[in-house]
Amino acid sequence: GTGLHGKFVARGKKFWGTCADSALLNNAANAAVIRAEFGQLTPENSMKWDSIEPSRGSFSFSGADTLVNWAVSNGKLIRGHTLVWHSQLPNWVEQINDRNTLWDVVNEILNEDGSLRSSVFSRVLGESFVTIAFNAARAADSTAKLFINDYNLDSNNAKTQGMVSLVRRINASGRIIDGIGTQMHLSANGAGGAQAALTALASTGLPVEITELDIAGASSNDYVTVLRACLNTAACEAITSWGVRDTDSWRANTNPLLFDSNYRPKAAYNALIAAL
Ligand code: G3I
Repeated sequence: GTGLHGKFVARGKKFWGTCADSALLNNAANAAVIRAEFGQLTPENSMKWDSIEPSRGSFSFSGADTLVNWAVSNGKLIRGHTLVWHSQLPNWVEQINDRNTLWDVVNEILNEDGSLRSSVFSRVLGESFVTIAFNAARAADSTAKLFINDYNLDSNNAKTQGMVSLVRRINASGRIIDGIGTQMHLSANGAGGAQAALTALASTGLPVEITELDIAGASSNDYVTVLRACLNTAACEAITSWGVRDTDSWRANTNPLLFDSNYRPKAAYNALIAAL
């Protein structure tokens, strides 16, 4: 195939995706780039708890449905994002303080030293919330691949080692967690540890996916370094860019993505295509 996704798949990988939500899918120029270049969609915000259940028992799936319908009709894979995260929580969840109320895969649960982050989930349930969340997700969809996702897993640092230990501990009694997501929100010249990180995460025996790739002030070399690290790691199955064009990025002022404000491919895009 052609395009980033097509060429990446031709190298034996599963997909190269991006994130979006209703507004960007209804933007014809943006949608055209997604159709041509990307094979998977992550909802940037519409499946977060504050979007889906803003007040207790009152659900709103319209944003999530828009993304799923667009992905299905355009033949794109979907990564649900994110079931349990300490951020973008509705107030009513923040205020829960008894363990019978909490239920239910998990995002950004580690501190930089590899320990468990304090959140309403860890305070009420301890580490058990991780297994509870994964079991609930499994019960809801036995075919989905369930990932644990985090940021700053960009070298073989304490947080990466904490992730490896946590996954090994939780999966000691069976396959609870199916894979590890490393977000990879990098900075210029910050891709040097990517290979070591992927190798460490892969030592768990699980697939590893780069789930939110963007690089502030990226040079072509930064992007190609990440690509090579993934190509060089059998367990690294997929990459998702965290957006299409710089203008729409959460870090817009750092020009971290592969397309410019006019949807023109940037030098880093061309370097990736050449490396593929
Ligand atoms: O929808 C409201 C709108 O009604 C309101 O008028 C406007 C005013 O601020 O805010 C809108 O919500 C914003 C939302 O994006 C949708 O645009 C939130 O303020 C804003 O905080 C939110 O930012 C998102 C951020 O997660 C939230 O923490 C970014 O778009 C999204 O790219 C970012 O993505 C996260 C991943 O989910 C997890 N990993 C880190 C990554 C970067 O923070």
